[in-house]
Amino acid sequence: MDYRIAVIKGDGIGPEIVDATIPVLNKVGLEYGHRFKYEYLLAGGAALDALGEPLPKKTVKKCKEADAVLLGAVGDPKWDNEPGNNRPEIAILRLREALGLFANLRPAMVYEELAFACPLKPEIIEGGLNILIVRELTGGIYFGSRGTEVIGEASALSKLIDHLKHEKTLPPGRFAYDVEQYSEVEIRRIGELAFQMAMKRGKHVTSVDKANVLDSSRLWRAVMEEVHVKYPEVKLDHYYVDNTAQQLIKNPKQFDVIVTSNMFGDILSDEASQITGSIGMLPSASLGEGSFGLYEPIHGSAPKYTGQDRANPVATILSAAMMLRYSLDLPAEADAVEKAVENFLLAGYRTPDIMTEGKVPVGTKKCGELIADYVGR
Ligand code: IPM
Ligand code: MG
Repeated sequence: MDYRIAVIKGDGIGPEIVDATIPVLNKVGLEYGHRFKYEYLLAGGAALDALGEPLPKKTVKKCKEADAVLLGAVGDPKWDNEPGNNRPEIAILRLREALGLFANLRPAMVYEELAFACPLKPEIIEGGLNILIVRELTGGIYFGSRGTEVIGEASALSKLIDHLKHEKTLPPGRFAYDVEQYSEVEIRRIGELAFQMAMKRGKHVTSVDKANVLDSSRLWRAVMEEVHVKYPEVKLDHYYVDNTAQQLIKNPKQFDVIVTSNMFGDILSDEASQITGSIGMLPSASLGEGSFGLYEPIHGSAPKYTGQDRANPVATILSAAMMLRYSLDLPAEADAVEKAVENFLLAGYRTPDIMTEGKVPVGTKKCGELIADYVGR
């Protein structure tokens, strides 16, 4: 069968890690008789450079026409002093919104072969670790109203600001705000997905919030309880986010599925990635209502490693595996890619980020070629 894949290489190491992933997909096509048609599109700094805008309309349109989107990474320090709406990162946020991708799946697992790289004591992760973070992706503080004002100057927003600050008088000077907000519809749909995922795994959901302080978290907790009624087989816990940050270090094996808001999920998934030893190994899937999805590594564009053939493409390759599984409904092919990554590691090949004595060093391109070789072997 033919599949249309929109490909956004992005910035920094993005092009290299994507280029290393394409041969793996092509090998899957060859082995299993599929044809992947790639449409290369611009977003992020690359789009700012070429077209003066972070997310060209054409990119959104072509993504919508595709079966799935594969993305490298966006972000380039060159644009650090740009206003918020003209930075590369806005491209990924707008894309998530435009494509309705409200759910972000971020698995964090430790590979036996790389367990030494986990900074925790060996007994803490003994027997393996396999957490799925389900992060809400199109709501919360990322998409609430925001602004910067100068208090004391006549401002149309001053009423709103007074309200946000409980009508307290603000000291003169600069003032900025970002609003955390959730509707029950947004919470329910991410909750549903988390419970469905848990049913296929360890049947345990930990919902993470800050309900001791935030109204939006109290609603989050209440709606999670309502969703739970439909899934009596699943155990539901509620944890505060600060406690979760501790528990991830102290006893990460207690977690199966963690479901949380946009910002808490952003932070906790970076923390979880460090437990696994390398952020270069972890994929992600962003999903909406149907099978369409966007797949990207959880790491960033690592500008300082650009063009050095040293970035680890495994997170992108594993993201492509998630794409095969969730958007293209090709579970056997997804398994084959994951198995190929395991075989690559077992054979002792290592990119610089996971290199240790006695192992075989490989660069980005070679890593992709070797994993492609292992597909179907
Ligand atoms: C991520 C990133 C993005 C986010 C940035 C680049 C906007 O950190 O995907 O985790 O905060 O969602
Ligand atoms: Mg992040």
